[in-house]
Amino acid sequence: MPEQIRIAAIVGSHGRGSNMQAVIDACSSGAIAGRVELVVAPSDKSPALERAVAQGISSSVILYDPDSPESFDRQLVLLLEEHNIDLVILAGFMRRLGQDVVRAYSGRIMNIHPALIPSFCGRGMWGRNVHQAVIESGVRFSGCTVHFVDEQYDTGPIILQKIVPVEQDDTPETVAARVLEQEHKAYVEAVALFAEGRLTIQGRRVRIA
Ligand code: GRF
Repeated sequence: MPEQIRIAAIVGSHGRGSNMQAVIDACSSGAIAGRVELVVAPSDKSPALERAVAQGISSSVILYDPDSPESFDRQLVLLLEEHNIDLVILAGFMRRLGQDVVRAYSGRIMNIHPALIPSFCGRGMWGRNVHQAVIESGVRFSGCTVHFVDEQYDTGPIILQKIVPVEQDDTPETVAARVLEQEHKAYVEAVALFAEGRLTIQGRRVRIA
């Protein structure tokens, strides 16, 4: 591992960018041996992208056309190579990355999901839907999962999970807020472990040295 890893964050069109910000802040404080060198968004209206620009981070918009997702993937790989990126973090990006990107950066792309995978995940399970489903199911605990990205939604090897209680009077919003607090901690921890070279993928399992 280089002394300071070079990180790219892929944010969402509507994302606040709070996970991206948690990682940026942890890089500044030294908790992560790395730097967020690049932020990519699928739309120029992304609040997360504006947040990154305001902090002087290189940013790019690659428009996402659902009819030709390969074009997004191709441009993304070029950009990541150009910036010598060691680790890609998905932070609010709601699309599935294509095989070109996933293969080129195998074991070097992470995502965070606001539930305990393999429950409440997969296609359509994002944002409020996740927490609504959690409450309706009656589970007593929810949480978040940081995982490596493969070619499906939310199925890659799990790196870390954090747990929160689901209370009697919870709404999707109160669960989301409780989970988000843990997301920021989990993402920072997982990226720090990666930067220290302490993560190894063994089949479906991730070993932490
Ligand atoms: C988070 O809840 C994350 O788990 C999910 O998308 C949301 C992004 O939030 N993948 P933010 O833009 O990082 O605030």
